Amino acid sequence: MNALEQLRRSVDRDEVFEFLRPKINVRDLDLTHGTILYLEDVSVSFDGFKAINDLNLYIDAGELRCIIGPNGAGKTTMMDIITGKTRPDTGSVFFGQRIDLLKLSEPEIASNGIGRKFQKPTVFEYHTVFENLELAMEGDKRVWPTLRATLSGEDKDHIDETLTTIGLQEHAQAYAGALSHGQKQWLEIGMLLMQNPLLLLVDEPVAGMTHQEMDRTAELLTSLAGKRSVVVVEHDMDFVRSIARKVTVLHQGSVLAEGSMDDVQNDPKVVEVYLGE
Ligand SMILES: Nc1ncnc2c1ncn2[C@@H]1O[C@H](COP(=O)(O)OP(=O)(O)OP(=O)(O)O)[C@@H](O)[C@H]1O
Ligand SMILES: [Mg+2]
Repeated sequence: MNALEQLRRSVDRDEVFEFLRPKINVRDLDLTHGTILYLEDVSVSFDGFKAINDLNLYIDAGELRCIIGPNGAGKTTMMDIITGKTRPDTGSVFFGQRIDLLKLSEPEIASNGIGRKFQKPTVFEYHTVFENLELAMEGDKRVWPTLRATLSGEDKDHIDETLTTIGLQEHAQAYAGALSHGQKQWLEIGMLLMQNPLLLLVDEPVAGMTHQEMDRTAELLTSLAGKRSVVVVEHDMDFVRSIARKVTVLHQGSVLAEGSMDDVQNDPKVVEVYLGE
């Protein structure tokens, strides 16, 4: 880059003042039609391969939706598109009626109402469960040196409430590194909850869990819906059956079937796709 280009870039407002750009305000989230997420005619190709192919998906406010589909169906890519990690080639993605997610950066989306849980838990192993939740709180409260000093009663209540939701009250003072795999997964969900998301995306939450941990995860995810919407991608069919209300089957980047677990499992198109795996 030559000096002139450098100067041009430095006066480019978007680049220099990105942090000053107006944030979306979740209070602007318009849910008048009861739909919190709209994906319409969305497609994306990687090197000519259509990973998402004219996908149309609508998630209701407060619903718990399970997404299933064979390997490579585009489930994770769909989450990447919602969270701004991957930009679609065509189509639109709206959060509520008015918030165009394609106009927002990945951090803007993450800090404004859409939480995402990746498969591998990423907790701060050398901090306690309580501290992990504290660190995950919104805004400046994340700054370490001020932590103890600024923890208000309200914040503490929020942490306690989250500890109860994720069932780790008795482990509040345990180091996160000492938790079981399942407990770490719950802690990470708790960390997302500290940011008060209205939509939570969870990719393969029960991989590697014991049966007991799976049951507890089913209860947890079920309890989260209602106040917020939860989208769960999972391969474990017993688990999906235990939490499912409405199930969407993705195949080759679009919706193959949608309905109750019984509906989709008895759908000949779905049977064919799974048998052909
Ligand atoms: N960044 C990328 N570059 C190239 N190809 C990609 C990229 N991301 C995904 N793909 C391809 O897109 C397809 C869909 O992948 P995706 O990970 O979304 O599937 P999935 O439904 O999550 O599968 P799984 O159940 O195995 O997790 C796959 O063929 C994958 O190889
Ligand atoms: Mg995946």
